Parts: sequence; C-alpha cells; structure tokens
Amino acid sequence: MTPGPEPRLRVIWTDPVTGRKGYAVIDRMVNGLAGGGTRMRQGVSLVEVERLARTMSYKNGAFNLPGGGAKGGLDIDPHDPEARGMLSRYVRAMKPLYRSGWGTAEDLGVTQELLGEVFAEQGVGMTVQAMLDRSGDSKAAGRRVSQGLAIQVEGIGLADCIGGYGVAEAAAACVDQKGWNMHKMRAVVQGFGSMGGSSARYLAKLGAKVVGVVDVNGAVTNPDGLDVEGLLKSRSALGEIDRSSLRSEDRESPGDGWLDIETDIIVPAAVADVISAGNAAQVKARLVVEAANIPTTGDAQRLLFERGVVVIPDYVANGGANAWWWWTVLGVIEADADQAFKHVSKVMRDTVKGMLERAEAKGISPREAANELSMQNLDQLAEKLGEDASEVPLEPVKA
Ligand SMILES: NC(=O)c1ccc[n+]([C@@H]2O[C@H](COP(=O)([O-])OP(=O)(O)OC[C@H]3O[C@@H](n4cnc5c(N)ncnc54)[C@H](O)[C@@H]3O)[C@@H](O)[C@H]2O)c1
Repeated sequence: MTPGPEPRLRVIWTDPVTGRKGYAVIDRMVNGLAGGGTRMRQGVSLVEVERLARTMSYKNGAFNLPGGGAKGGLDIDPHDPEARGMLSRYVRAMKPLYRSGWGTAEDLGVTQELLGEVFAEQGVGMTVQAMLDRSGDSKAAGRRVSQGLAIQVEGIGLADCIGGYGVAEAAAACVDQKGWNMHKMRAVVQGFGSMGGSSARYLAKLGAKVVGVVDVNGAVTNPDGLDVEGLLKSRSALGEIDRSSLRSEDRESPGDGWLDIETDIIVPAAVADVISAGNAAQVKARLVVEAANIPTTGDAQRLLFERGVVVIPDYVANGGANAWWWWTVLGVIEADADQAFKHVSKVMRDTVKGMLERAEAKGISPREAANELSMQNLDQLAEKLGEDASEVPLEPVKA
C-alpha cells in the first residue's frame, strides 16, 4: 500500500454469537460518500481491510467517480454454517455507517444476492442506499440498479460479468499498446468466481487461449485451451468448479503450482498477496492483469517491473465493476447490458492507454503512473464537492 494519510475511520466489531471479528474501514470520504465491497474470508484482518479501502479510493479516482473508498471484512469461512448469521449481525451493527455514506457490494466470499437479502432483512434498503439517497431521485436510481442487477448475460448476472469484462478489456488495451496479438496469447486465471469467471470468459472471447483456471480446490489446465463456458456452467455460487464436468483432456493439479503453468497472461482473481518477492521470479507471463484487489505485494511489483513484466494495477483493471455501480446510480447508463459493456470498454481502454503512456514517458511503473492520475482526480473531486455530505444531489462527473 502506498503510504498515505490515516484512514478516516477504522471499526472493529465482535460478533456476539461466534466471538469472531468483523472490520470496516472508511479510507476517505468525498462528497459525503465512500464505496467498497464486503468480503468474508477466514483470516481477514483489519490491515487487509484497510489496504483494500485505500485501493477503493484509488479506484474511484481512476475513473473519476464522486466518492471515497471503504471496505468491510468478516473473519469467517463463507462455507461455515454460521457465515450467513454473522453477516446479518454485522450488517445490523454497521447501520450507522451505511446511513452516513458507506455504499457496499459483493466481494470475495459474498454474493450480491446474499448481501442484498441480508440488507433487506435488516431494513437498510439496498447495499448502495447511501448513493441512492444522494442521487436526487432515489426511486429512479434504485429502479435502475434493481433492473441492472436482474440482467443476465449468457447465464451470468450483469453485475458479475462487467468486472471481468473490464479486466479483459484492460488486457486488450495493453496488448494493443504493446503491438502484441491476443489470438497468439495464453491466459491463466486464479479464482473462478465473479471476477475470475468473467475474466476468463471475456479473455476467451477476445481470442486468448485460457489454458488454466484455479479455484480454492486446485487448478484445472489444458494447454490446448479449456472449455470456459462449460466450466462456468458447472460452477457453484462461491466459484468452485464441479470436477465431474471436466473433459477427458483436461488435467487437475494443485492450486499452489499455478505460476508454473506456461502462459503469456496471468490474472490473479482471488485473494491478496499471491504474488510476492518469494515467487515473483516464477512468473512466466509478460502481462499480469490484477482482477483481485492487492494480489501483488509492493516488492513483487518492483521485481516484475525490473524484468519488464507489465502489471495492470488492481484498481484500474478491476474498476469496471465499481464504475458500473456508480454509472447506474448516477444515470450515466441505463439498466442495459450493451450500454454497460460499451461504456466500460471505452473508459477502460482510454484509462489503460493513458496510464501506459504516462508510465513510458516518465520511466515509471504503470501503478506509479496510475497512482498519480488517480489521486489527482480524487483530490480535485474532493476540492470541488467537499469531503462531507452536502445537500446537493449527485451529478455525473465526466469519466
Ligand atoms: N465481485 C466484485 O464485484 C469485485 C470487484 C472488483 C474486485 N474484486 C476482487 O476480486 C477478487 C475476487 O472476488 P470475487 O467477488 O470474484 O470472489 P468470489 O467469492 O466470487 O470468487 C472467489 C474465487 O477465488 C477462489 N479462491 C478462494 N481462495 C482461493 C485461494 N486461496 N487460491 C485460489 N483460489 C481461491 C474461489 O474458489 C473462487 O473461485 C477479490 O480480491 C475481490 O476484492 C471483486
């Protein structure tokens, strides 16, 4: 994490039933709002949530979205029978934060459907209620969000597709910039949930050969290319592949060997810090597209940069999902898949191009270039709109 100011607020909560911890961090507020998802993972810590909240601030800045960054985390395995109850109690406890500007959504181990259900049962409205309440016409904005969430794209909800679509577009923008050919490139995706599954889908649609995907149970590989759509159909709600659906030519291997798979592109789309100083030398790919948040440690980023491996930073590469929420609330786009895809494609390609050009011109890494651009945008927004809530309804800001 880039050293910076202290977060605005850190919250540590203890579940009265299980004794387990939950955390929430508001990194900063802009316009009285802060956005960021809620995750469930055994072992999640306050430090992890704080790093993720900071990443969300950068993410909003990168796409000129009028809010600061926040994040929530519950220290429990999403398969645990107590997970749902704990999430419900957590949402109840966090009500003051939702009411004072935190809008949230699905993240690792939490589906949007489950989160929406729990919010409704706790009487908090929608998960982005804070943004709806400031939109000027909360009913119309709420309708757009509900209709958007109901859209299915070839069997997957739009909200679960759009992030991975953006990841693939970010990869394509870099491939074009470098003069490479996507049709001659192989890709490996770690994580096969909302982000990983859709990243694999849209990379394959752009012509890449997806030769490996990894879920919490291990890797599935095929040097001739996997049947991504078949694997997506077999997937559980938590992104786990049903191994009985594999074709005879597909192979299974342990997940921790994922960096050894021969490939040109890797997409970490699961947990934090999976590429570190200890394994950065194993990265064979020339392009790393970070679909997960904070998957590459600072030391590993430096090592990869020295070797000429391009890393598209998390908050740019995976920012399509967050941007889709904001654009839908703000009415920049209607609840329409074509509009969503077109807008994400345009903004992602422009953002990645601008970032890579700046990095090249200044001899700095893409992340350093993106950090500069993103904080500049967010500081300008905070100056114009203020940090705390005003009575002025939200207005779309030029992306
Ligand atoms: N869902 C979103 O809208 C969204 C948006 C932007 C970024 N992200 C980030 O993307 C990442 C994944 O989130 P998601 O919503 O796709 O989660 P998810 O719960 O839908 O899927 C997680 C996937 O990772 C796999 N996994 C879990 N632990 C693993 C491990 N140790 N090794 C390998 N695979 C493992 C799971 O089996 C599953 O396939 C997170 O870092 C999240 O913050 C999510």
